[in-house]
Amino acid sequence: MIQEPLPRRIFLVGFMGAGKTSVGRVLGERLGWSFRDLDEVIEAQQGTTIAQIFAEAGEAAFRRIEAAALRELLQERDEDVEGIIVALGGGVFAQPENRKALSQAGGTIVFLEAPIDELRRRCAVEVGKRPLAADEEKFAELYSSRRPSYELATWRVHNVNKTVEQAAAEIENLIAAAERR
Ligand code: S3P
Repeated sequence: MIQEPLPRRIFLVGFMGAGKTSVGRVLGERLGWSFRDLDEVIEAQQGTTIAQIFAEAGEAAFRRIEAAALRELLQERDEDVEGIIVALGGGVFAQPENRKALSQAGGTIVFLEAPIDELRRRCAVEVGKRPLAADEEKFAELYSSRRPSYELATWRVHNVNKTVEQAAAEIENLIAAAERR
């Protein structure tokens, strides 16, 4: 039986500090696919930083901007690229309407996973960049409430005690194995 090839779109999901942007960028380079980071798309579109959007318009407004940016990105059809890797902000896959849009658009969702202490350590390095990482208790609550959503991903890759290259290579191997099936 001839199988349809996997849609060549990989979406990286997971909590703040999971390494979605750094692993996604390297994965794109390894595969020769294009790489997009939804937060960077939003910042370019809005001409300001995510932190400023939270501060000036609030989280609910940010979620609306984020959902609209995701939908626009899902409609793009770039014939010239072999594939695309998209790093999604930590809140995207936790919203049911975004999950629905992603599932309708097609693609593989990869959950990059790391223990909360490690995520906290990584986020502490860039204080001020992530408004939702400022409060330790809220960070932990958000982590627990979002985990079940992340677990709906197609694949799960642990990103602890690995270099960015190693984590990217792991995803590359999963893609190659899926394409051989
Ligand atoms: C958020 C995560 C951030 C960014 C925003 C909100 C979240 O992206 O979208 O600060 O709700 O978890 P990263 O996961 O890339 O840090």
